[in-house]
Amino acid sequence: MNTVYEKLMKCYEQVEKKISFRPKLALVLGSGLGDFCDTIEISETLDYGEIEGFPKSTVLGHKGRFVFGYCGEKRVPVVVMQGRVHYYEGYSVCDVVLPTRLMKLMGAKTLFLTNAAGGINPSFHAGDLMLITDHISSLVPSPLVGEKIEELGVRFPDMSEVYSKRLRSLIEEAAAEVKVPLVRGVYIQTSGPNYETPAEIRAYGRLGADAVGMSTAIEAMAARHMGMEICGISCISNLAAGISSNPLSHKEVQETADKAAPMFRRLVTASIEKIAGK
Ligand code: HPA
Repeated sequence: MNTVYEKLMKCYEQVEKKISFRPKLALVLGSGLGDFCDTIEISETLDYGEIEGFPKSTVLGHKGRFVFGYCGEKRVPVVVMQGRVHYYEGYSVCDVVLPTRLMKLMGAKTLFLTNAAGGINPSFHAGDLMLITDHISSLVPSPLVGEKIEELGVRFPDMSEVYSKRLRSLIEEAAAEVKVPLVRGVYIQTSGPNYETPAEIRAYGRLGADAVGMSTAIEAMAARHMGMEICGISCISNLAAGISSNPLSHKEVQETADKAAPMFRRLVTASIEKIAGK
């Protein structure tokens, strides 16, 4: 058997033994957004460390566990990744997307990705929430490189609508209802962990990116490959290098994300309820 698939199935077998919950939707929380779980009616949790073979997050401010529970008044069954794994931590891209694939196997048909990102679009401000319309992932390896895994999806998957138009319009509706302003744009994933140079940011802007970060695109690709319906929101935690004159720091990223957290929680909860069709 293919080693990537074998590892995934080993992780899945362990999760199946420990967890009986069947989520409808999978939510990945980015930097500073981990407190979203305070709003969830938690029914079970599973620390990543309890799953043998599972890549562990090493970033400050990222807890490492799956939270299973019900979101919003309408009690939508969700699995939440409280802390994700990043390529810059030294894991292979296949390991980075293992948790995403695992959540699909758990039963989630929809993937809701969130992250903190640097704003490239000059009209953006720190604290804005950006609906991801598309991504540029060419700076990091594709998680689909390697022996093909027919059990997961086709060899040459279409990526012409990674972020579902249907979900995007539901999120726009939810945002209007809960009065959370939303900007929209293209996300570019870099390898990190260093922030970018001003010249890189100018180049990414010319390529068509509105925001830059170190996650999300490869997870979206792996999920699309498996046929999940995907949406994503970036919290613009800072203006990218050269757009702001300040040096960038992880502390600033977290502080801004923390400030935006109440609005973000409102938007994500309302969006999930709309997506679940309740
Ligand atoms: N660049 C890359 N990743 C980020 C940034 C940034 O400016 N802000 C938050 N994540």
